[in-house]
Amino acid sequence: MSVSTKARATAAAAGEQRAAVPDHVAIIMDGNGRWAAARHLPRIAGHREGARAVRRTIEAAIRQGVSWLTIYAFSSENWRRPAGEVFDLTGLLRHYLQTEIAELGANGVRIRFIGDRSRFDGDIQRDLANAERATAGNLRLNLTVALSYGARAEIVAAARAMAAAAAAGALHPDTADDAMFAGFLSTAGIPDPDLLIRTSGEQRLSNFLLWQAAYAELVFLDVMWPDFSEAHFAAALAEYARRERRFGARPE
Ligand code: IPE
Ligand code: IPE
Ligand code: MG
Repeated sequence: MSVSTKARATAAAAGEQRAAVPDHVAIIMDGNGRWAAARHLPRIAGHREGARAVRRTIEAAIRQGVSWLTIYAFSSENWRRPAGEVFDLTGLLRHYLQTEIAELGANGVRIRFIGDRSRFDGDIQRDLANAERATAGNLRLNLTVALSYGARAEIVAAARAMAAAAAAGALHPDTADDAMFAGFLSTAGIPDPDLLIRTSGEQRLSNFLLWQAAYAELVFLDVMWPDFSEAHFAAALAEYARRERRFGARPE
């Protein structure tokens, strides 16, 4: 290969690499409890350290050029955990909302929450709404936090809303399609995730973004969430860049 051909090939590869940065990364942040257990610490210590990993990950996403980041922080099924752990987790959420939102706003992060927020105490519901309002004008990173979120409940709510619109004569059932249905989901207006990462070594979706992740590339990492670093994030992006996305079409 001549020098100039080689230079062109390198440039093309670099261009592909850039084009291969996922627009939207979704993360199932799992393994806080096991991280703590391995250190003979209470589970809350793992959750606290997990909150620090969230901060690092937001900064990493901005640096790596990702525009949308969606993180699974608490599932609708997590309410079934022992009352003490639920109390600790909601306390941590309350603290996070009171101490981190101003900095997120200053860093150009727009925050949104998806999930059933009616299950949280009134003061938390108010802080969630305030955080969304305070950061609504930001453009650098769109952060969506799934809280008390379950994909099946989200899909049922969307089906119900669409059926109600049809019953009211606002839409004809025959006109319903994928795009219209997606407009009834809590993620309306948010692009589908390109890359979905789960930490802790578990390889399942646990009721996260079941509709939206239809064609997401899945990356499972053997790291507990509190240890998740920018290097892990970059490794997942590199793995994504090696994947060939086909969306059901025949490969060239
Ligand atoms: C993820 O860590 C955080 C939440 C689900 C709230 P876990 O608490 O599930 O930790 P493991 O899976 O028990 O290690
Ligand atoms: C999924 O993790 C939910 C979050 C990370 C918030 P879980 O720990 O609740 O999932 P399972 O129970 O292992 O499937
Ligand atoms: Mg878990």
